[in-house]
Amino acid sequence: MQTAQPRQTSGATRRSFHIGVLYALWGVIAGALGVPAFVYLFFPPKAQKQNEWVEAGDLGKLVSEQPVEMVFRRNREDGWKIISEKSTAWVVRKDGDGILAFGPQCTHLGCAYHWDEAKNEFVCPCHNSIFDVEGRVLSGPAPRPLDRYDVKVEGGKVLLGRLRRPPEPAL
Ligand code: FES
Repeated sequence: MQTAQPRQTSGATRRSFHIGVLYALWGVIAGALGVPAFVYLFFPPKAQKQNEWVEAGDLGKLVSEQPVEMVFRRNREDGWKIISEKSTAWVVRKDGDGILAFGPQCTHLGCAYHWDEAKNEFVCPCHNSIFDVEGRVLSGPAPRPLDRYDVKVEGGKVLLGRLRRPPEPAL
C-alpha cells in the first residue's frame, strides 16, 4: 500500500512536465509567427522614399537660354526594395545665374515634349501644346505650365530635387 503513492506522484509530475513543454513549444511557435505579423501590420515600411537631390549633369554644358535634356538616375525606396529609375529633365540656364529644370512630361496628358530650336519653344507632338523657355503655356490644350524640379548647383554640378507643380495662375 505504501509503494503505490510515490508512483502516482511521479506520473503526475512527468505529465505536468510534458504539458509544460508543449505549452512552451506553442509559445515559441506563436511568438515566431506572431511577432513578424505584428511588426508587418503595425509598423509598415514607409511607402516610398526618394533621395532628395540627384546629380543631373555639368553646369558647364548649359548655354544661356538653350534647353538641354539631361538624363539621370534616381533611387527610390519602395517598401524594402530600392528601385533605380531613369528620368530626364529639360534644363535651362537663364541669363545671370538662374537655372530652371522642367519635368519631361507635357501637362496635358503626359506625352514627352521636345525643344524646337528654330521656333525657340517647347512643342508637344501629341496635341500641339506649346510652352515658352520658362515653361509657360503659349498655346494648346495644356492646362498649366510645365512642372519644375527644385534646382541647386554644387561644385559645378546641377542637382535636381523634387518635381513640383507650379502654382495655378490667378484668374
Ligand atoms: S499630351 Fe501634350 S498636348 Fe496633349
